[in-house]
Amino acid sequence: MSTVTFDQIGKSYGPVKVINSFSLNIKDGHFVSFLGPSGCGKTTCLRMVAGLELPTSGKLLIGENLVNDPANSLLIAPEKRHVGMVFQSYAVWPHMNVFENVAYPLRVSKVTASEIKDRVQSILKVVELDGLEERMPNMLSGGQQQRVALARGLVSRPKVLLLDEPLSNLDAKLREKMRVDIRRIQQEFGITCIYVTHDQVEAFTMSDTIVVLNKGDIIQAGSPNEIRSKPLNEFVAEFIR
Ligand SMILES: Nc1ncnc2c1ncn2[C@@H]1O[C@H](COP(=O)(O)OP(=O)(O)OP(=O)(O)O)[C@@H](O)[C@H]1O
Ligand SMILES: [Mg+2]
Repeated sequence: MSTVTFDQIGKSYGPVKVINSFSLNIKDGHFVSFLGPSGCGKTTCLRMVAGLELPTSGKLLIGENLVNDPANSLLIAPEKRHVGMVFQSYAVWPHMNVFENVAYPLRVSKVTASEIKDRVQSILKVVELDGLEERMPNMLSGGQQQRVALARGLVSRPKVLLLDEPLSNLDAKLREKMRVDIRRIQQEFGITCIYVTHDQVEAFTMSDTIVVLNKGDIIQAGSPNEIRSKPLNEFVAEFIR
């Protein structure tokens, strides 16, 4: 559990500015969705929190800890940020069974074998995959693979969980179930979540706060109710229509 603070974060790729001046405080234990059209900078923002992309300006904090401050060449490595990430493509390792996929982050951080066993089994129960420890990913459904990725993101008990369009490869029915599951797990753990989507139903049903983005700028941030009842401008109104 942790706050996340973007303080005038900017990001350029060479001469091209993709994030302008992004300021946002995410509260401890909150579920925040980044909603916006393709190319608006959602993934870039998420990857900066994970430490997989470097901001070019501004400051980024996880809790009290400054994790990026390019003006002072400060940069905390991804593995020291206590952040879990779930990617759109699942990114489960095809050559590892369910247990080993989920155990991987713990093996990397040299957790003892007996603790790994306990923690993997307990998180597999949470995502309702217990009993499937030995299965290889090619013998799992899309939804089950997605839950392996979710368990892997949660097993190291991250302070912040980042999810990048985690449901877009699933069919409508499974998406609906996973929406409920993710929200339940997030509340059970009290974990701070940043959830990237361009699906407004997802954003509206899951979030405490929705941040609407366009072309690297925050257009509006507010509760689903606020966004729905008081869209700030034409763009927001059109986007959520
Ligand atoms: N490595 C890169 N080099 C140059 N430009 C990049 C790079 N990565 C992303 N961009 C550009 O940055 C902008 C934001 O990309 P980003 O991936 O954050 O968008 P997104 O909101 O996640 O879009 P989508 O919904 O399609 O996933 C896009 O215009 C993209 O072309
Ligand atoms: Mg993206």
